[in-house]
Amino acid sequence: MQDLYGRVVTYMRVSVTDRCNLRCRYCMPLEGVRFKDPADVLSWDELLRVVRAAAGLGVSRIRVTGGEPTTRPGLVDFVREVAATPGIRDVSMTTNGMLLAGMAADLRRAGLGRVNVSVDSLRADRFRHLTHFGDLQAVLQGVEAALAEGLEPVKLNCVALRGENDDELVDFVALTESRPLHVRFIELMPLGTSHAWTRERLLSAEAIRERIAERYAFVPDALEGGGPAKYYRVPGHVGTFGIITAMTENFCHSCNRVRLTADGELQPCLGSLLAMDLRGPLRAGAGDDELRRMVAKGIRAKPERHLMEEYLEETAGRRMWTIGG
Ligand code: GTP
Ligand code: 5AD
Ligand code: SF4
Repeated sequence: MQDLYGRVVTYMRVSVTDRCNLRCRYCMPLEGVRFKDPADVLSWDELLRVVRAAAGLGVSRIRVTGGEPTTRPGLVDFVREVAATPGIRDVSMTTNGMLLAGMAADLRRAGLGRVNVSVDSLRADRFRHLTHFGDLQAVLQGVEAALAEGLEPVKLNCVALRGENDDELVDFVALTESRPLHVRFIELMPLGTSHAWTRERLLSAEAIRERIAERYAFVPDALEGGGPAKYYRVPGHVGTFGIITAMTENFCHSCNRVRLTADGELQPCLGSLLAMDLRGPLRAGAGDDELRRMVAKGIRAKPERHLMEEYLEETAGRRMWTIGG
């Protein structure tokens, strides 16, 4: 279905929990996070009802997000139901990879198509520092398990942080030489812990390309995915790298997505405070048609573009772990 600006919405990101087993410094503070009341979190069946309503409106891609989706018991069965939903042809998940090694085979069998794994550093000590509790080896084992199970394309997400991991960009690109991995460098967005974002920490897409060009020549590449990343390939490398240019090269004109939070808010844009409560109607007995009408209303309400910097005060405190990116 089309929004008011003619964009066709085919992609819904479903956050299944706001809890996470890591505390990435730019995302979630170590202390003081109040997680959602479990009673407010949609049951798997309630989430499925929204997925089916969206599928009825032309959504064909579902991305499971969090928090950390693998921490919610019952995920594999949910994925099986989503994958079996008529109209859904791409089921993917964004994960920190900590628990992936033990779950990749079951997820694959349930119908998960592919995974994106967050890895902000390839140095174990720095990775631990950036994530507080992360174990790089466990995550890399998860990545290998995903490749072995054919959860492909496997994409790595690296939020580029000036002065913190920007000396590793070429190491990430080096990984793509012999492994079929697609590394995406993400511009830091003013979301998450409200103190984390500053213009100084943001490494722009242009700066990312310049850093990589110091070591590698590369050409634009097309990679199937559905998301906003722009891809490049170093000739001869089996994998690619991409850049998600949310701040400096706006891609909202080609936006194709809406989001569902674990407590049942339909959010039409990552960078806007707009939200529509679906939990209330779901629990008040809304029928399938009514639910579909509400999802359609949410899709129509998509803003033309994000104004994250213009409305910094308002959006900076948005809790990424409740939205799922
Ligand atoms: P595919 O292309 O389907 O593989 O996924 P994706 O790149 O859209 O999803 P992923 O969860 O891996 O997100 C990577 C980064 O892109 C995260 O930092 C997200 O917050 C960001 N992102 C995803 N969708 C949007 C969007 O619509 N707007 C903005 N500004 N950022 C987005
Ligand atoms: N800016 C950019 N990307 C972010 N992510 C989390 N917070 C931010 C932020 N403020 C990324 C995570 C994960 C994806 C879902 O979003 O690293 O890979
Ligand atoms: Fe779409 Fe909003 Fe993301 Fe822009 S910021 S691409 S409009 S969800």
